[in-house]
This record gives sequence, C-alpha cells and structure tokens, in this order.
Amino acid sequence: MKIAVFAGDGIGPEVTAEAVRVLHALDLPGLELIDGLVGAAAWRATGHPLPSETIAIAKASDAILFGAVGDFDCDHLERHLRPEQAILGLRRELGLFANLRPAKTIPALVGHSALRPEIASSIDLLIVRELNGDVYFGEKGMRTTPAGLRQGYDVMAYDESEVRRIAHVAFRAARARGGRLCSVDKANVLETSQLWRDVMIEVSADYPDIALEHMYVDNAAMQLVKDPGKFDVVVTGNLFGDILSDQASMCVGSIGLLASASLDANDKGLYEPIHGSAPDIAGKGIANPLATILSAAMMLRYSLGQAAAADRIEAAVDAALASGLRSGDLGGSATTRQMGDAVLEALAAQ
Ligand code: NAD
Ligand code: IPM
Ligand code: MN
Repeated sequence: MKIAVFAGDGIGPEVTAEAVRVLHALDLPGLELIDGLVGAAAWRATGHPLPSETIAIAKASDAILFGAVGDFDCDHLERHLRPEQAILGLRRELGLFANLRPAKTIPALVGHSALRPEIASSIDLLIVRELNGDVYFGEKGMRTTPAGLRQGYDVMAYDESEVRRIAHVAFRAARARGGRLCSVDKANVLETSQLWRDVMIEVSADYPDIALEHMYVDNAAMQLVKDPGKFDVVVTGNLFGDILSDQASMCVGSIGLLASASLDANDKGLYEPIHGSAPDIAGKGIANPLATILSAAMMLRYSLGQAAAADRIEAAVDAALASGLRSGDLGGSATTRQMGDAVLEALAAQ
C-alpha cells in the first residue's frame, strides 16, 4: 500500500500530520508513505505548484492523501502558478472525475450545527460532485470589449460523456444507499444544465429502482438548510457541488469535519478534507484535523480494500467527539494535536 502524502499549505501540514499518526497507529502491513510537494510550498521550492516529481509520485501510488493548498501571498501570480493549480492539476491529470462528499449527523455534535437540533439530527447525504469539467476547465481569459472595457470570461461546458459517467457513479451510489437521487442544476437558465438534466433522465433508464428528482441549485441551497434530512444522494456539477458541500458542512457542524474522495474510473483516488488552507488560523496548531482523519478512512475503504480499518477510524472519531473534546471551530479550545491524541486513544481503547 503506497500512499502519497501531499500536505500542502497553511493548516494542510498540521491536519495531515494527525491523519498520518492515525494511519501509523493502525499497524497495517505493507503501509508505505511518500511525501510530495504541492501548492505554495512547491512553488517556493521549485517554481511550480505541481512539480512533475509530485505527479510521478501520485501516479506511482495506490492512493493520495492531500491536505490543502492556497496562500494569499500567491494571489498575484499568474493563474497557472497559483497554489490551487496543484489540486486542479492532480484532479485532471489523474482523471479524478468523481468527488464524493458525505455529510452525516454526528450525534455528539447536533448542538453545533448552524441549524436547529431537530433539523440537524437526521442528516445523512452524499454529494456526488463532478470534478473534471464545468466552468472550472472551460476556456478562460481576460479580454477587452469593443467599448474598451476589461472583460473576464470562463466558459461553462459539459459534454454528454462527462455527464453520463458521473451519472452512473451517482446512480450506483444511490443504489448502495437509500435509493434516491437528486440531480441539482440550473436548467431554467443554462444550456449546460439542460444537457445535464437530459442525460440524467437518459441514464435513469438503467436504474429503474432509483427515484430521480431534479432541483434547481438555488432551491437546493434553500432546501439544504430547510430540511437536509430529506436528501440521500445529490449529484451536481463542479461549481455547484463546491458551494453546496461547504454549506452542507455547517448543517453537520463545521467545515473541519467533512471528508472527501476524488475517484477515477478504477476507484484510484485522492482523499482530502473539503476545507482549504485556512490562512486565518494557520500556524497556530488549532485547526480541526478530523476532516483529514476521516479522509484517510475513506482512502482505506475506497482505494485500499481496508474497510475494517476505515470503520475503526470512524468509530474512534465518534468516540473522541463523544468525550466532549472540541476544537475552536466547534466552540472549544482543544488543539489540533489534542484532537489527534483523542482519536489515537479511542483507537487504542477499541
Ligand atoms: P478555507 O476552507 O481555507 O477556510 C474557511 C474558514 O473555515 C476559515 O475561517 C477557516 O479558519 C475555517 N476552517 C477551514 N478549515 C478548518 C479546520 N480544519 N478547522 C477549523 N477551521 C477551519 O477557505 P478560504 O478561506 O476560502 O480559502 C483559503 C485558501 O484555501 C484559499 O487559497 C483557497 O483557494 C484554498 N482552498 C483550498 C482547498 C483545497 O486545497 N482543496 C479547498 C478550499 C480552499
Ligand atoms: C475544494 C476547493 C477547490 C475547488 C479550489 C481550491 C480549487 O474549493 O476542493 O473544494 O474549488 O474545487
Ligand atoms: Mn471548496
């Protein structure tokens, strides 16, 4: 089991260190971790946010554990040199088109949700976000209009094969869960979304057992806080999925809790928290490492065939939270290290 560890910037190294400690504590045979540079850290060392050595490490690994990238000091750089290109480049270069972002109520944290406890107590949803297309990867640029004004543009586009392959991932996920799929789009305005909706309906013919519904993204954002418990699997494009998943994190309690898997067609994957490098708290040792620890659990389950070890991590996280320990994002004062320690203690006590 070769795992590439790309810690990145800001709180990335702090939260990744705790996930690595948890992986070591599991004592899995044949576990090999290989570090690689990404983001501003890589740009400072090599002049590029995603050096070719890092891509080579990723390709030679069975899975990738990713922290976060992003550094406001780099926001003046040309876009292709910015830290975010590391994660965007890995997703494209490795064909990681299916981003799974589960959001589930953690009983001990119901009181920490941004929603009332009776609304927050029954959340169990999975956002399936397309990750290789959309406005993220269409033609983009700056130009001058005939009137002499600066104009920025980003083309939003999906072809039907891209929609079809994420549709199959989502329908299969719904089949393995509650049998309901909500496709989120903006088909009342966007042609990209009309195609998305048409293809979802076509693919649904292969899954007569799954109840497919369609929802406009603005309504979905509203329903997600009104009644998140009614969602099972949500499938949506790259941009809408990015936004809705940050929102879903606050329904559960904190952005510091949500893990993700980014998979290719063969379930090779990159695993990362949904949050970013959090420059406002970086270097203080107070970030919540649980999203990254839970991402390591997803990695064991989806890419490494170690479901039992994944279950152990998830149970240990639940136990650590049940003990009452809280990092700053959850209104407490526990440090990153103390949160990691609590998970390790819970693992040892199993
Ligand atoms: P962010 O997710 O980094 O932070 C948003 C807010 O949430 C901040 O107040 C932060 O302190 C808090 N937060 C995030 N993670 C936390 C954690 N684990 N524990 C406690 N609090 C946490 O989003 P942002 O501020 O919009 O972006 C900062 C940088 O991160 C930008 O450069 C952005 O491009 C980048 N980013 C990278 C990724 C990634 O690497 N996949 C994801 C999102 C944002
Ligand atoms: C995420 C992030 C990234 C995205 C950025 C950093 C490119 O917000 O992983 O959610 O928009 O996909
Ligand atoms: Mn995001």
